[in-house]
Amino acid sequence: MQNTPIKLYDTSVIGFSNMTDDAVYALEQNFGAHHYDRLKVVVRTAQGSWITDIDGRKYLDCLAAYSAANLGHHHPKVVNALMRALVGNYASVISNVIYTDPLAMFLSKTAEFVPQLGPRFGRNGNKVMPKNGGVESVETAIKMARYYGFKEKNIPDGKQEIIVFNNNFHGRMTTVISFSTQQNYRAGFGPLTPGFVSVEFGDLDAVKAAINKNTCGILVEPLQGEGGMRIPPAGFLKGLREIADDHDLLLLLDEIQVGLGRTGKNFCFEHEDVVPDGLILGKALSGGLIPLSAFVTNAKLMDLAFHVGSDGSTFGGYPLACVAGVSALEVLEDENLAKASAIKGKELKQHLMKIAVRSKDITEVRGKGLFIGIEVKHGNAMMFCRKLLEMGIIVNDCHGHTIRISPPLNISESEIGFLAECLEEVFLK
Ligand SMILES: Cc1ncc(COP(=O)(O)O)c(C=O)c1O
Repeated sequence: MQNTPIKLYDTSVIGFSNMTDDAVYALEQNFGAHHYDRLKVVVRTAQGSWITDIDGRKYLDCLAAYSAANLGHHHPKVVNALMRALVGNYASVISNVIYTDPLAMFLSKTAEFVPQLGPRFGRNGNKVMPKNGGVESVETAIKMARYYGFKEKNIPDGKQEIIVFNNNFHGRMTTVISFSTQQNYRAGFGPLTPGFVSVEFGDLDAVKAAINKNTCGILVEPLQGEGGMRIPPAGFLKGLREIADDHDLLLLLDEIQVGLGRTGKNFCFEHEDVVPDGLILGKALSGGLIPLSAFVTNAKLMDLAFHVGSDGSTFGGYPLACVAGVSALEVLEDENLAKASAIKGKELKQHLMKIAVRSKDITEVRGKGLFIGIEVKHGNAMMFCRKLLEMGIIVNDCHGHTIRISPPLNISESEIGFLAECLEEVFLK
């Protein structure tokens, strides 16, 4: 049977409505899990750096879905690729027992976009395991480190240990919350998964002290996002690399939030000229339009750890997500968004530091590229976020003390100007 193109119908879109804000809040309250404390805005549309609420009020999105909207909302190139795929009956969900060209293209594009990982295992190229949400790819990385420990280091299966860091955030599933140091992420959700040792973020001596005969890997966020926009001392990643080499451990970086241009380089590890053995990507990987994450590693390690039946996912690497993934990586390259993030982030940070000097409420401004945290006194970051919301700026706090500023990487100069004006107003007037 021949494939016939789908026609778009000019009828209302299912899922949209003319509901009032209060009706939306009530439906969520009654029918949703209460697992987020949301800002009181109901979004109707989003484009570029702006989101528009149900009443047509516009907000500059300086949170960008925690980096998922690095390309801005609905980047036309990614939207176009998806529309063509859908209207042309090109790609949807296909059983994983069949090949698809979007997956092949996404795997090769991603493998080549990432510098050679784990070069001590040989320059074999990279291989990619696609998944959906970021946490799934974190778990894939954990599986690989454990398997490596078992097969290559003769650690008895079940005894493998991975070193992680206090204040980490790698997602919300059972294994990953098991090594969270946030009590409220894990309390009551036991039994927790063993095999992790957590040490102070940035402390290389603590890492060395935590190593024993069963240690197989180190899992770290190069900068901690959820943990409070924290930046470790210079040389931390280099130090971890050396320790991993000396003790034959796999160094796994979670760049779900800080990768793909966010900090002014395509990958955060490039700031320290260090290459990990495994890299976890997510959020912006599909331009923020479809859940898509990936674990990338040296081809030899991927082939060592995963065989038919040892991993998989129905939607992991499904064609529609891969179409978005390929076009999102192209946008990142073509528009040189990492460089844009470096330049605009530097300007914005300098501006914020000047505000900080004059403000009685700010203790520190820190960040890399367009990943910026403003540390405020008295743990009342949310109060400032609410004031900014009234002025048309969306930001959020981490742990009460830090305001997180992470707008789309292609935010314009005038939009940054608007953000800076509002911050000045909130902190200085
Ligand atoms: C560093 C990091 N790792 C993992 C995750 C989990 O990703 P997801 O929420 O897509 O599962 C997040 C999400 O915020 C993150 O910031």
